[in-house]
Amino acid sequence: MATKSGEGFSSTFGAIMAAAGSAVGLGNIWRFPYICGKYGGGAFLLVYICFVFFIGMALMMSEFVIGRRTGEDPMKAYPKLRPNKPAWRFVGLAGLLTCFLILAIYLVISGWTLNYFWESLTGTLAGISDDGFGKHFSEFASSAGRPVVFVVLFLVFTAFVIIGGVEKGIERVSKLLMPILVVLLLVLCVRSLTLDGASEGLAYLFHPDFSKLTGEGILAALGQALFSLSVGMGVMIVYGSYLPVDDNIMKTSVWITVCDFAIAILAGIAIFPAVFACGQDPTGGPGLVYQVLPVVFNSLGTVGRVFSVVFFLLLSLAALTSAISLLEALTQWLSSEKIGRTMSAIVMSVAVVVLAVVASFSFGDGIMSGLKVGNLQLFDLLDKLTGTILPPICALMTIIFFGWFMKKDDIIDELSNHGTVKIGYFKVFYYFLVRFVAPAALLVVLISGLIN
Ligand code: PHE
Repeated sequence: MATKSGEGFSSTFGAIMAAAGSAVGLGNIWRFPYICGKYGGGAFLLVYICFVFFIGMALMMSEFVIGRRTGEDPMKAYPKLRPNKPAWRFVGLAGLLTCFLILAIYLVISGWTLNYFWESLTGTLAGISDDGFGKHFSEFASSAGRPVVFVVLFLVFTAFVIIGGVEKGIERVSKLLMPILVVLLLVLCVRSLTLDGASEGLAYLFHPDFSKLTGEGILAALGQALFSLSVGMGVMIVYGSYLPVDDNIMKTSVWITVCDFAIAILAGIAIFPAVFACGQDPTGGPGLVYQVLPVVFNSLGTVGRVFSVVFFLLLSLAALTSAISLLEALTQWLSSEKIGRTMSAIVMSVAVVVLAVVASFSFGDGIMSGLKVGNLQLFDLLDKLTGTILPPICALMTIIFFGWFMKKDDIIDELSNHGTVKIGYFKVFYYFLVRFVAPAALLVVLISGLIN
């Protein structure tokens, strides 16, 4: 246990489950398939793989090192490593603000998911005709009452786990939920792959169409890689501060990255073949899982109803373990300011739910749909900021700090667990990656994406 509060994960397995729980979320199951579909399927996938394994994973290791080395929240960790340059704490602050914004929009989408789980369970979805799902979704998501009820409900579950503590709350829940999630997803994959016409969906997912991969698509791939691995905004610094002292940071990061990537691919395999087999539009955008999948489920009769329940349960559980990590980052920071953990979690929950409700009201034709910045509704603005723009900016600052301002000996000492783990040539490769490759790639993609 590395932190001052004595909180921490009890074992490497627990740490991997918790961090993978943070990584695997709406990003993998709701966002990845529709973005991948939009930017050319396999072509997007190739770029995405490079970003995940070269930049995302390097960032994850860096954040773990910063967190475990200092045992502090992101705001204090940076200045602790560079006491003569306290301004670095603003990088920690930028990350925490990003977490706050992500959590707000995350709660809205999690609320939708929970509602769809409920509607699958009670048979409401089964009673809707194929062409009625678009209307059903927009009416529901734009309404004032129901989405808010589910947002609050979801947040209560999240806060409850946080209040339970790091080991007894976060670790325990993640160890339980992650294996369930994998099983549910595999079940869905098998069903999807055995439908007539499934191969078309697989071809769509894996066949590269480079004509659709624009500059915007490359920036989206980078944003998605960072978002999906939960890196860039300090969440992994927080979880790093809870890592056991003898945990091998390199191995742990590889496990989490592989797990996160595999689950995104499995989600694609569960979704696209079914979408094609039922003659639906794979480029359904953010509404894909709420407007297109229910049609697919309904066309499968009673089995489809079971799959609908399973799918929305899966999505809710995945969202829960990610929301937990976001709320934990905010709670850890506030509770280090001498406010108790429970109180901190409550204060942060109340603050974030206000923004979430406003974002929900500004969605579609909602009662605050007139609330715009430029020509973007607040909801769309938050989605763009948190999905595409802020994670690369925060990630760039983190990696510059890590590669250029942190002492190399500290990094090696932490990665090698004070010399007990052999890292050999990896350190040369890794150092090159964090000093040159990752910052350059982040900078180029960010600038070109923003110009476009
Ligand atoms: N990685 C999560 C997902 O894929 C989202 C997330 C982003 C969680 C940033 C924590 C921090 O859904």
